Amino acid sequence: ITAYFQAGPLTGKRILVTSGPTHEPIDPVRYIANRSSGAQGAAIAKALHVLGAKVSFITGPADVPPPAGVDVVRVETAQQMLDAVRQALPADAAVFAAAVADWRVASASDSKLKKTSGALPVLTFAENPDILYSISHSEDQRPKLVVGFAAETDDVVANATAKRLRKGCDWIVANDVSPSTGIMGGQENAVTLIDEKGAETWPRMSKDAVSQRLAALIAERLT
Ligand code: CTP
Ligand code: CA
Repeated sequence: ITAYFQAGPLTGKRILVTSGPTHEPIDPVRYIANRSSGAQGAAIAKALHVLGAKVSFITGPADVPPPAGVDVVRVETAQQMLDAVRQALPADAAVFAAAVADWRVASASDSKLKKTSGALPVLTFAENPDILYSISHSEDQRPKLVVGFAAETDDVVANATAKRLRKGCDWIVANDVSPSTGIMGGQENAVTLIDEKGAETWPRMSKDAVSQRLAALIAERLT
């Protein structure tokens, strides 16, 4: 008989992970999306599961499948992701790896937009809820450890340090997603971890390796 359950440093801990892009509808057949593959979020969820955590994996429409062994909640929009995150609380830690759309189309059409109307369509946007901000500032349901991501293209550390304070999270995992880095949609990541003490830049490594290192630090912090 082989034991299928192995205790790890995160056994008994509940951790929520958001991942992937969100899709914001324009009409029943069109949407606004972004280039997130969901690879980093899936790798983090896997690494936390391997250390024994009970993982709620809340994912937008990603290219990469969710890892085995986690509770998967599939959503499309930012608003649905916020609702699913609230459902998954309380949690000991929350990792917000999703690339949430900042804006949605203010009034998505129930009917398909047609060329026949003559005029070009004009889309008006509304701001989406900020999931990380809202959970970081929750009075009764804030996880002990809240980890955000910051995908930046310029002044990565300065922007991410300011973002950590603005969002109210404990850690920010910052990365440079300029097209020249090849990180967005790629297999590797080069991140800087920012906490209350400062910034630590990690060497470029696989998304799995980033995830294992992050999961080990989360375990240290929660135990
Ligand atoms: N985030 C979120 N909900 C949103 C937007 C972002 O939960 N509506 C989370 C992301 O999952 C990430 C962090 O906030 O962990 C930072 O996302 P980012 O897009 O870098 O920050 P923004 O505040 O949206 O700022 P920017 O204008 O740079 O996009
Ligand atoms: Ca954003």
